[in-house]
Amino acid sequence: ITRTLCSSAVRNAAIKHVTVIGGGLMGSGIAQVAAVTGHSVVLVDTSEDILKNSAKNIQGSLKRVVKKKFADKPEAGEEFVQKVMNNISTSTDAASVVQKTDLVVEAIVENLKVKQALFSTLDKVAPAHTIFVSNTSSLPIADIASSTARLDRFGGLHFFNPVPMMKLVEVIKAAGTSQQTFDALLDFTKALGKHPVSSHLIQHCFSLRTLQASLLSGFMNEVCHGSKEDIDVAMKLGAGYPMGPFELLDYVGLDTSKFIIDGWYEKEPENPLFAPSPLLNKLVAEGKLGKKTGEGFYKYK
Ligand code: 3HC
Repeated sequence: ITRTLCSSAVRNAAIKHVTVIGGGLMGSGIAQVAAVTGHSVVLVDTSEDILKNSAKNIQGSLKRVVKKKFADKPEAGEEFVQKVMNNISTSTDAASVVQKTDLVVEAIVENLKVKQALFSTLDKVAPAHTIFVSNTSSLPIADIASSTARLDRFGGLHFFNPVPMMKLVEVIKAAGTSQQTFDALLDFTKALGKHPVSSHLIQHCFSLRTLQASLLSGFMNEVCHGSKEDIDVAMKLGAGYPMGPFELLDYVGLDTSKFIIDGWYEKEPENPLFAPSPLLNKLVAEGKLGKKTGEGFYKYK
């Protein structure tokens, strides 16, 4: 983790106060890296219980960071965790907290109508300068932005899981996104210590998201002919993947993976790479959503 706990870069930046909506894996990770780099963060979700769990996950992740970064100085490590946590507050009322925010990052369920309803409400109460972004994996940013009157101050920031570890962020410029907004998002991404790549409009021929969705879909079709264990081992030992594709699907969450692949299938029904996977659909229908529920392609303790 670079540029920890506020540098002059953050003090002088356009984006200092960040509201993250959604306390799941992605939202918690985004809140964490923003807080680590000195931004003041409000993490929003629908219940105190969810938010308590998010805070627990953030602390758990920070402890892993501290274990190596402050290996010989446990007290300094604890102080670091405390300082980061002090940069994060939580709320169940997005409308009341966005009044002080420079950037709203949405990381909620992959459902266009739900996202539109959220942004439409926030658009009426957020200050004029506030930039809105979605972390969507599969929905066009312009469609989400159309629920607001701030098309020029609306873009996409697509993070990768686990957010504290993954260096890449896709910065998406939709048709209405202004250059000023796009530049502010690039600067913000760099202030997080991440590496931005620009993803213009929804030209998904150049998008890691599509590439990944199609690869993972392909592996799921392939599993009919071989075992998932063999495919995972082959991709790790033979292709240098840090995780096998089935381990990764479980890690990301099978519900999230299904949303993403279904989204691409809707756009490109003729593309066999996005064909629905009966195996994935079956696991999701059974509530086996991966690591977070204790079972997906694999079983977890
Ligand atoms: N927070 C902090 N540190 C973490 C962490 C977390 N959440 N997860 C892992 N780490 C650290 C560990 O502490 C460990 O540090 P160390 O080497 O200094 O001890 C290091 O990362 C390695 O972790 P592990 O030994 O537990 O396991 P791995 O070596 O397998 O690394 C991984 C874990 C970084 C997750 C690696 O397996 C990986 O890169 N996997 C692929 C992830 C990927 O492809 N993500 C993209 C998913 S798609 C997506 O997000 C899109 C979205 O739209 C759904």
